[in-house]
Amino acid sequence: MERTLAIIKPDAVKAGHAGKILDRILSEGFAVRAMKLVTLTQAQAEGFYAVHAERPFFGELTEFMSSGPCVPLVLEREDAVAKWREVIGATNPAEAAEGTIRKQFATSMGENAVHGSDSAENGVKEGRYFFSESEIVQNGADVIDA
Ligand code: TYD
Repeated sequence: MERTLAIIKPDAVKAGHAGKILDRILSEGFAVRAMKLVTLTQAQAEGFYAVHAERPFFGELTEFMSSGPCVPLVLEREDAVAKWREVIGATNPAEAAEGTIRKQFATSMGENAVHGSDSAENGVKEGRYFFSESEIVQNGADVIDA
């Protein structure tokens, strides 16, 4: 089993799509191991996206990510990283395939509804950025499973 970090980003929460996205998560066979609603400070958003610190869109990205509540989730299933990236679609919604979450809900390259980790290693690391060990459920019996 592999884990990935998903985030329902502020644009999707604000537009009222969080429930639909959670439904999609469950119907795609992911188990939710951790979830919360949180408004990041810009410094927290900068920490999360530190790898992009030198990119021209960094200011806009971190301002957007701290503009309102978002929903980070630790998701688990086989091939969680690749599967979640397949379900969310390309970064740019104009290039996202039919049926993907970004095709459905993203409004621009920047405000693209959801995040997904890009490797299993980053899935674990990013999960720890948002959740302490005790906030990540290890035993599936008492969590929302598909
Ligand atoms: P990136 O990690 O490349 O994409 P993904 O979220 O698909 O893994 O970029 C992180 C976020 O930065 C992306 O979701 C939206 C934003 N972004 C821009 O605003 N402009 C850009 O040109 C790129 C590449 C990303």
